[in-house]
Order: sequence, then structure tokens, then C-alpha cells
Amino acid sequence: MSKVVAVVGATGAVGREMVKTLEQRKFPVSKLVLLASKRSAGQKVIFNGKEVIVEELTPASFAGVEIALFSAGASVSKEFGPIAAKAGAVVIDNSSAWRMDPEVPLVVPEVNMDAAANRPKGIIANPNCSTIQMVVALDPLHRAAKIRHIVVSTYQATSGKGHDAATELQTQSREVLDKGTATAKVFPGQIAFNCISDWKAGEGDYSEEELKMVNETRKILRDDTIGVSPTAVRVPVVNGHSESIHVTFARPMKAEEAKAILKKAEGVVLVDAPYAPGNAPQPVQASGTDPVYVGRVRDDLAVPGALNLWVVADNLRKGAALNAVQIAERL
Ligand SMILES: NC(=O)c1ccc[n+]([C@@H]2O[C@H](COP(=O)([O-])OP(=O)(O)OC[C@H]3O[C@@H](n4cnc5c(N)ncnc54)[C@H](OP(=O)(O)O)[C@@H]3O)[C@@H](O)[C@H]2O)c1
Repeated sequence: MSKVVAVVGATGAVGREMVKTLEQRKFPVSKLVLLASKRSAGQKVIFNGKEVIVEELTPASFAGVEIALFSAGASVSKEFGPIAAKAGAVVIDNSSAWRMDPEVPLVVPEVNMDAAANRPKGIIANPNCSTIQMVVALDPLHRAAKIRHIVVSTYQATSGKGHDAATELQTQSREVLDKGTATAKVFPGQIAFNCISDWKAGEGDYSEEELKMVNETRKILRDDTIGVSPTAVRVPVVNGHSESIHVTFARPMKAEEAKAILKKAEGVVLVDAPYAPGNAPQPVQASGTDPVYVGRVRDDLAVPGALNLWVVADNLRKGAALNAVQIAERL
């Protein structure tokens, strides 16, 4: 049955991808309500060949809305998520506002869709983009051999910081090529031709982004004993996050066994060719596509029974919009 669907943050990087994903996947939408701040009210967006006008988000925006997809930042979700839920919508929220609330399920459909059934606040949280692609790749291995420790380093694209950040990479790149220096407005410094850590400080000298990967992984995999050692880095890529992952298990796992499992895993494309220059998954190839690509699955050289993997996915799709729409589809 067709649904009245609202996209909150419809003009942002994730919101635009949400609208595209709903259309591409032929989600049964009877009416699409596009919401953003006052700044963008009146903008026109094409959905299924028809113009939809972006409206200013207000407490009255959710009358009749059945599914509300939020991607307008944590403060907007904190304030308006409960208002939308009270109006009768199922809220699927992309921000960090509700992820660690014990009364809000944190859901990746391939991993723990069953958790979505228990949502006392009427809100389901979408995990952080880096966490989503990591757990899609690791959950099948966890089911087989119980993960004990994950060491993960991220190579995160600029679109992960929003539409303006992705644009700033391009303007900075031109500036550096033309005059050797870059103007930073969205980033805390030069991202063009550079790597930086640009997230807010968390605790113990870790960034908030790194701690999200620790806490969200444990919540999704329902195992607080999993150790996660994260390093999050922003790289000059427009779209598509990459991760280098080292993982140990309760029993030894060989690369051959892991590949056999990953070949059949839902949402995963295993890139199984032997090492050759340029043949591992790449963000430019993953961008605009749905799967989580897993390549370079290797036995660790120093730790018997441990594995190393390279995991790449489109952070705006599987890391955000697609994951949210998949939750809505399965509901
Ligand atoms: N980018 C990713 O890869 C990614 C992945 C997972 C989760 N997320 C999360 O998704 C959320 C959105 O991220 P994004 O990357 O799409 O950011 P973005 O490109 O900066 O877009 C932000 C959106 O929120 C709207 N907005 C901002 N303040 C608002 C307000 N007070 N009332 C109503 N709308 C408001 C903006 O509307 P205006 O155009 O009117 O300013 C815009 O549509 C964030 O919570 C982020 O953490 C992002």
C-alpha cells in the first residue's frame, strides 16, 4: 500500500540521495513531503517526473505522514523526531541523536532487522555511515566465528560531512592548483591533496566519529565484549568511504573460509581476484551503487587465525539513504 513519506533535510547530501533512492527503488509513495529549513523553502525537486516544492519544517509538517526519513542533523532530530512519531509516523533517523538510546533500535537490515519491531518511541536509528559498511561486511564472519577484536582505519569521503563539504573539496582543489593555498570554510583546514581528522573531540583523545564506531558496532552486533580500535581519517575523495580492517575471532578464521562466507553474504560484493595494481574496490567505482564491496581478504602475516580486509561503500547510499529506505521497505 502506498505511503505518505516525508524527507526531513531534503536539500542536503543525504536527503537528495533519499529522494533519488525512493524513486529508483519504486518505493510506493502516495505523497512526498520535502522539508528543510526556511533557507530552502520554495526550492523545487523532481520526483517521479513531477515537481515537489520544499517546505519549511515546522511542528505541523507531519500531519498525515506515515514514514518520516530524517537527515537534518542531530538537533533537528531531537526536536522534531518525537513530534513526527506522535503524529503517527514511523521515524527513521540518520543523525546521531537517538542511536545509543536503549529504547531506539539501531538497524542495518542485513544484520538486525528484527530489532526494528521493538520501537517504543516510534523511532528507528540508522547507524553512522562508517559503522554500517563495516558491520555489513563483518556480521557474517561474526556469526561464523565470533569476533573478538576489530582494528579499523577509515578513509572517509568529503560528502560524509555534507553537501557543502563535498563542494569545498572541489573549490579547494582548484585553489591549490591555481595559487597553491586553500580557503577552508567547512573543513578545519586544507582537505584538497591532504588527509585530516575533522570530527569533534570525543573522550580519551578519540574523536566522536571513532567512538561511534565502537559503541554502535557493539549495539548492532549485540555483543559488548567486541573490542574496536578505530582511527577515522578524512581523505580527498568526493564520495565513497573505504576502510582497512584487521579482525580476530574466538577461533582461527582463514581467508578462504571468510571468502566463501562473504561470497554468499547479503549486501556484499566480494572482489576475489588475487592482488594486482588497481584491482581492489575503489570509492570512485562504488559511488552511486548499493553494495558493500569487500576485497583484499588476507590471512594476517603476524597473527595466526586473524584476517585483513578492505571494505568500500557509497556513504550516501548504503551509509545513509539506502539503509533508511531498506528499513522502510522491510517494515
Ligand atoms: N553525509 C553522509 O554520508 C551521512 C551519512 C550518515 C548520516 N549522516 C547524517 O545525516 C544528517 C544530514 O547530513 P548531510 O550530509 O545530508 O548534511 P547536509 O548536506 O549539510 O544537509 C543538511 C540538511 O538539513 C537541513 N537542515 C539543517 N538545519 C535545519 C533546520 N533547522 N530545520 C530544517 N532543516 C534543516 C538542510 O536544509 P537547508 O538546505 O535548508 O539548510 C539540509 O537539507 C546528519 O545528521 C549526518 O550526520 C550523513
